[in-house]
Amino acid sequence: MWQPKQIMMNGELMPLEDARLHPLSLAVTYAATVFEGVRAYRLSETGQFALFRLDDHIRRLQVGMKLMRFDGSYDAEYLTECLVRLIRANEPDSDVYIRLLAYIEGTGLLATTGPVGFTAAAMPRAKPAFADTGMSLGVSSWQRLSDNASPPRIKTTANYVNARLAAHQARADGYDGALMLTPDGKVSEAPIACFFMVRDGCLITPSADNNILESITRDTILTRHEELTGATAEVRTIDRSELYFAEEAFLCGTGQEILPVTAIDRLPVGDGNVGPLTDRLRRDYFDLVRGRVSDHPEWRTLIE
Ligand SMILES: Cc1ncc(COP(=O)(O)O)c(C=O)c1O
Repeated sequence: MWQPKQIMMNGELMPLEDARLHPLSLAVTYAATVFEGVRAYRLSETGQFALFRLDDHIRRLQVGMKLMRFDGSYDAEYLTECLVRLIRANEPDSDVYIRLLAYIEGTGLLATTGPVGFTAAAMPRAKPAFADTGMSLGVSSWQRLSDNASPPRIKTTANYVNARLAAHQARADGYDGALMLTPDGKVSEAPIACFFMVRDGCLITPSADNNILESITRDTILTRHEELTGATAEVRTIDRSELYFAEEAFLCGTGQEILPVTAIDRLPVGDGNVGPLTDRLRRDYFDLVRGRVSDHPEWRTLIE
């Protein structure tokens, strides 16, 4: 597997080990950081790389910077050019996962708004062991944080304290992952992925007012499900007890891709195997990101 060589800081490429950020920066002290995980897939036919839904990732980063009251913003054209340079400099020979962070590198007080910096790093990312066969989830006793406390809608590093608590609890309890509930006990999302389930043949996912990140992969799945099956998924509140009625379930996200869920709270989901709709949507997702189906060319930014 290829190894990362170069990282980008504020538009400059440098060896990975040369990147430095002051420990007194607000990024470190107060988690004044917003970030994106973006993927560039190697296309099956040409071997070229294509960044998947980059414009949507950049838009979410920009809104996060605005809400966090960072000085200024980065324009989409500039960030795209930076990521293309980053990928070329690392000479990958297989898929690339990119961490793009914008943060306050200034060392100031809580409400300091700059100077702002950014880092982009490219790396390979191994598929989790359970990606093919399915994973177990445990419903966490850690509540998903709320819009009026630390908005899950923006991808700020600060929100991942909440995610880590749930992830560690799940690990300690012997699950492959956690599923978090809202403060009023409705299904929200996993620590780093969104949740889908199938009940009576209908695809269902929690609506955005259930303290979820407005996931780009979730939107891709909703769009493709409708295009492939002609049926519209239900986007609504899900009670915890509905989880145990699910015939199928899966998680989705840029980093996690599509992960079938075969057990929740040690009870099997459906017959305990990867479900047929999950499998169909998963296959289609990989066909789409790798350009094996030509639909939605606007979602693939080709790197020449
Ligand atoms: C909390 C959370 N939910 C959902 C997702 C999936 O979002 P996306 O599909 O935009 O990567 C992620 C990953 O970025 C996440 O961290």
